[in-house]
Amino acid sequence: MKIGILISGRGSNMVAITRAVQDGTIPNSKVAVVISDKSKAPGLGKARDLGVKTVVVTRRGRPREEHDAEIVSELKKHDVDLVCLAGYMRLLSSSFVREFTNRIVNIHPSLLPSFKGLDAQRQAVEYGVKVSGCTVHFVDEELDHGAIILQRPVEVLDSDDADTLSERILRIEHETYVEAVRLISGGDFRISGRRVLFGSAVGG
Ligand code: GAR
Repeated sequence: MKIGILISGRGSNMVAITRAVQDGTIPNSKVAVVISDKSKAPGLGKARDLGVKTVVVTRRGRPREEHDAEIVSELKKHDVDLVCLAGYMRLLSSSFVREFTNRIVNIHPSLLPSFKGLDAQRQAVEYGVKVSGCTVHFVDEELDHGAIILQRPVEVLDSDDADTLSERILRIEHETYVEAVRLISGGDFRISGRRVLFGSAVGG
């Protein structure tokens, strides 16, 4: 399975996935390319240090469709089977999503459908929930909406602010994203409406 990872910033989830591919935790796979919409994204250097090809595709004031078309063409050039959004902070156009139906996944730092959009960890602290977490889901045309692959809970402590909660969720994100990509690479799943079913549920 050839993986393309899209980032906009730090890239710690990208590093987690790449390391898991390189050490065989995610088997029979290769990170073919890391693409950033920001030329100064710190994750770009980390990808290169891991020996992964990087490409920068900035928006440059162009319409979303045009920007996305260039990204899609880079992904195709690298024969990508699965697109992982890892802190990629832009909504994808419908045509991008349709080019890779059920082959784009995203990680979001909350238990969806709670706290969609930006600053999910701050939203969780301000709302006063006692448990938050992270969600890996397939990407569809709506923000933070597609079928859920995996979720992991993280307790919200009385002492938490958005930063401390983000830090603890991030550690769980890395494990959860690797596990989700590993499951997808095995191909042993079926999407039934909004449900992603694995293993013994697949046949039924
Ligand atoms: C992660 O917490 C990820 O869940 C979040 O951005 C961070 C990126 O960190 N993504 C979103 O909020 C998307 N809506 P990273 O660049 O170190 O992987």
